[in-house]
Amino acid sequence: MKIKFQPALFFVGITHDHIVSTVMVGYDGHRGWINYLAVLPECRFKAIGSIMMEKAEEELRELGCEKINLQIQASNKSAISFYRRIGFSDDKG
Ligand SMILES: CC(C)(COP(=O)(O)OP(=O)(O)OC[C@H]1O[C@@H](n2cnc3c(N)ncnc32)[C@H](O)[C@@H]1OP(=O)(O)O)[C@@H](O)C(=O)NCCC(=O)NCCS
Repeated sequence: MKIKFQPALFFVGITHDHIVSTVMVGYDGHRGWINYLAVLPECRFKAIGSIMMEKAEEELRELGCEKINLQIQASNKSAISFYRRIGFSDDKG
């Protein structure tokens, strides 16, 4: 589905010919969105997730995006910790 819509905003990370990470990015002209950021379990805590997010942010900045939104399930404590660590914050407003 993503390949059919804004395909240039779909990224995979490749190490030794294997896909180890993904991120799907969206931009609606107002806000950027991040979906399906994921790193293979055995490849986590090696900065791959951060690199994927840096790429996503770079692409969105080039499109003129000033703010990125993303949604995390409240039960996904590790993702919450990760996003806080790389500078995202809870926007309750
Ligand atoms: C969230 C996820 C993408 C992080 O990927 P990663 O490659 O392990 O992250 P990084 O190595 O770039 O970590 C960046 C920082 O976040 C921290 N961090 C990452 N995962 C963490 C966790 N579970 N708990 C606490 N801190 C964490 C790292 O320690 C690192 O901090 P440092 O700069 O002090 O070293 C990965 O855990 C994942 O794929 N999770 C399952 C999918 C998922 O939940 N995606 C989010 C959907 S909303």
